[in-house]
Amino acid sequence: MADYTDIRFPAGFYWGCATASHQVEGNCTKNDWWAWEQEGGHIHDGTVSGIACDHYNRFEEDFALAQELGHNAHRLSIEWSRIEPEEGRWDMAEVDHYRRVMESLHRHGLTPFVTLHHFTNPLWFRDRGAWLDPQAPDLIARYAGFIAKELGDLVPFWFTINEPLVVVTESYLIGNWPPQRNDMAEAMMAARHLLLAHARMYQAVKEATTHRPQVGIVLNMPYLEPKNPDSPGDVAMCKMADAVFNQYFLTGIDKGVFPPPVGQGEEAPGVKSTWDTIGLNYYYRIRISEDFLAKGAEYGEPPLGAKLSSMGWEVYPEGFHHMMKRLAPYGRPIYITENGFPTEDDDARCRYVLRHLQQMHRAISEGADVRGYLHWSFTDNFEWAEGWVPKLGMIAMEPGTLNRKPRPSAYLFRDIARSNAVAAGQSQKYAAW
Ligand code: GAL
Repeated sequence: MADYTDIRFPAGFYWGCATASHQVEGNCTKNDWWAWEQEGGHIHDGTVSGIACDHYNRFEEDFALAQELGHNAHRLSIEWSRIEPEEGRWDMAEVDHYRRVMESLHRHGLTPFVTLHHFTNPLWFRDRGAWLDPQAPDLIARYAGFIAKELGDLVPFWFTINEPLVVVTESYLIGNWPPQRNDMAEAMMAARHLLLAHARMYQAVKEATTHRPQVGIVLNMPYLEPKNPDSPGDVAMCKMADAVFNQYFLTGIDKGVFPPPVGQGEEAPGVKSTWDTIGLNYYYRIRISEDFLAKGAEYGEPPLGAKLSSMGWEVYPEGFHHMMKRLAPYGRPIYITENGFPTEDDDARCRYVLRHLQQMHRAISEGADVRGYLHWSFTDNFEWAEGWVPKLGMIAMEPGTLNRKPRPSAYLFRDIARSNAVAAGQSQKYAAW
């Protein structure tokens, strides 16, 4: 029988949830996802984002609930297509909206972690070619600088781009997401432009505000392993996938180069050291075989009997520990900007959260400078091409009324956040999977 002890987190640790504009606000009518949803046939469950969680109108209620639930931080994104609905035209009413949002966060004791780009593009940016447009880095940097100037007094943490590699793969390589391209050359070009875009945004935010914010990027870093460690083919494919998924942007922003296989390590001008901090999104392990690409199994080949989420992701908390340790030597503060579990079984969510917090504690005690944990997600929300079926929220939403109903996991998390610790009894209660 395992021994359980309380585990404590460093003083001042940030606890909260993460969201993104398109998934929760509702009526993001001026972006590429909205337009794509209206075409029909793309979203697997036949739904659209629509009014989403109506967070655009209910943010006060949501932040009051987050406060009640013990949170002291909240991650959200600003919808670029609201701020700049047409190229070069700023919508000041929307700027005021986000000012009210940030003020409300502060009033509710929630430190804002703000993402500037979370997957959605304004229609005009789409029409110019989005991430294939050589002007893309400058165009998005202009928006980043503008909004950082407007809201800089209220935002201590800015994140430029959410999961740029997911944009590359889903939108340009696999083609599951708009603009549904399936083209290696385009994917490479998008990867170059996204790296430059991050750097230009970083500079623009730094120049726009005197409030000395921490600025970083958010990377999704799955734990990749060869399916058969004795197979040279599996090992080689895994290495290649890891270089792309987990190392391209990291080496890029750190050293200021275009790492292989996107580039040959040549200089990426103005990119070196454009990060004060990093947002780590960690969800699962991907076991990779030689024919990973041909099989098109995005989430790899989990071993028999593995614990899977409702979306087929393999639960692997040790991989979370591994990724924090991998980031630690860069010497930048790490924030967990996403970690979560699509499931109909909230008990499983509780177990998932506890297992990952245990690994986070382990990494911290081994020296990783992890300073916050933002769970994905607050309420159930629009899960991109999967629609409304996956349930990732600690809070359920009643269909029709959209009333928020905290699940047991929300109360478990509240107790952890309030005490800044996982109690032995909590670990014990959810010991068996
Ligand atoms: C991330 C993404 C989020 C959310 C989450 C759960 O990749 O940033 O927007 O959808 O996955 O699937």
